[in-house]
Amino acid sequence: MAEPRDPNQAQRDMMENMRRMMSQFGTRPDPQAERVREQEEEKQRQKRKEVLSFDLKPKDVKKYLDRYVIKQEDAKRVLATAVCDHYNHVKRQREKGKSRHYVKQNVLMLGKTGVGKTFLIRSLSELIGVPFIKADATKFSETGYVGGDVDDLVRDLVHKADGDMELAECGMIYIDEIDKIAAPSNVQGRDVSGSGVQRGLLKIMEETEVPLRNPQDIQSQIQSLVEFQQKGKTTRPMINTRNILFIVSGAFEGLAAITEKRVKSLEIGFSSSAPKHIPKEDLFRASKTEDFIQFGFEPEFIGRLPVRVICDPLSAQDLYTILTVSEGSILRQYEESFRAYGIEIQFNDDALWEIAKRASNEGTGARGLVTICEKIFRDLKYELPSSRLKSFRLTREMVASPKKGMEELLQEEREEKIREIELEITEFEKIFSDKNGIAIEFDPKGRRAIQEHVLEESVQVKPFLENLLSNYPHGLELIRKKEPRHKYVLNQDVVKDPNHFLEEWIKNTYETGPIKQR
Ligand SMILES: Nc1ncnc2c1ncn2[C@@H]1O[C@H](COP(=O)(O)OP(=O)(O)OP(=O)(O)O)[C@@H](O)[C@H]1O
Ligand SMILES: [Mg+2]
Repeated sequence: MAEPRDPNQAQRDMMENMRRMMSQFGTRPDPQAERVREQEEEKQRQKRKEVLSFDLKPKDVKKYLDRYVIKQEDAKRVLATAVCDHYNHVKRQREKGKSRHYVKQNVLMLGKTGVGKTFLIRSLSELIGVPFIKADATKFSETGYVGGDVDDLVRDLVHKADGDMELAECGMIYIDEIDKIAAPSNVQGRDVSGSGVQRGLLKIMEETEVPLRNPQDIQSQIQSLVEFQQKGKTTRPMINTRNILFIVSGAFEGLAAITEKRVKSLEIGFSSSAPKHIPKEDLFRASKTEDFIQFGFEPEFIGRLPVRVICDPLSAQDLYTILTVSEGSILRQYEESFRAYGIEIQFNDDALWEIAKRASNEGTGARGLVTICEKIFRDLKYELPSSRLKSFRLTREMVASPKKGMEELLQEEREEKIREIELEITEFEKIFSDKNGIAIEFDPKGRRAIQEHVLEESVQVKPFLENLLSNYPHGLELIRKKEPRHKYVLNQDVVKDPNHFLEEWIKNTYETGPIKQR
């Protein structure tokens, strides 16, 4: 008989086994995983090489932006130049080492909603092939945990670069709604969180080292532990922000008024002539650093944003051009989603003008185009894929009243389908007559009943009728023996219940004479 086992010994054995399993798990390399990792690394190396062999000229960059972004000529020129400067510097620095004199070309963009600020930066990052992160400045002030959140932006870049730290270190960080963290000095009880966030950003905008692993994050802690187990030590990888380009943007409501006031007071002070009127759209361009400080930015913060870019409002004409010319036009998206169902869409020029005008009235820049198009296409996208429509043309009337437009479109499609069904019924009658030597014909109500069934159930006419009349060759033969006719007419009752109708017909023919035929 086996000895009863000592429970403590059993536990010790189990622990030892687990330790052995864990150590195997940790050290034995999996060749498959190893290969995948090598391929990934090669891909990253290639990408890095591309980015770091940057050799575009500002005009090349502007030309690329022109394909997507309409208007905003100044913005495109200034951004193209700043970006070329920055990435040439990154390249030079990697070849020759750090330069002391370089001032980073961080960008401040001003412009109303939907005029292309994010779109510009996204297009730029795609061209250059660097990772790109977008965040809202308001997110930081809400949490109150300033330092951590701002650092997370830098860590997100590493995620975007699939873990490639070198690539992440020359990425772009775009922070929107930057005007929301202004802390106006003329407001009583200064908005501390606003200036706190500005200070948090200052650090990473210039140069700092951000730990790749967030000390607050459990997952990062586990990673460190695993590393310690495998290698006997932990590393603390750091991301340097020196070469990360920062772009911040906002609508800056109220800045124009500050600038206007300053300009007016200057002119009153220095000349006797009446203050010159500056058109509203030029006020942003006339804004100076002191206006931004008055608006609520710390001098050190605004000082680290040397490149100022103004995006102008978009007119109805601009919106029309965006629809028709921009490679990023939302129309491409609709074309694609209809094409997925085999439907081609075409646009009347007056329909596009109507969309542009309506979008312009929304007052949300090019975002208005999305709102208007979504209204127009909502029902069409739902209904048309199930119709047999293979193409349609968007008209001005459809833009003005999408529901009515769609009903007319579907009605047209229905009428065409009905014409086709009519032809197929006639063809079936002929085939039936030829094959069985008995002529049949559906009366108008019978035809309508077939149409309705075919349309509602989406069935094919021929198989449906073959099945419907499967007993008729034989049944009609019986009837013909007693009541020979040139042609037998079938009505809607045949469509409803073919066999019951046929039985009654035969019964009547043999008992009381034929049922009434036309
Ligand atoms: N100038 C433009 N040329 C072409 N398309 C544009 C332009 N401006 C905006 N768009 C289109 O409108 C969409 C929204 O624009 P975007 O996100 O760039 O606005 P924004 O200026 O960043 O606004 P917000 O201040 O609300 O963030 C873009 O994705 C793009 O499709
Ligand atoms: Mg934006």
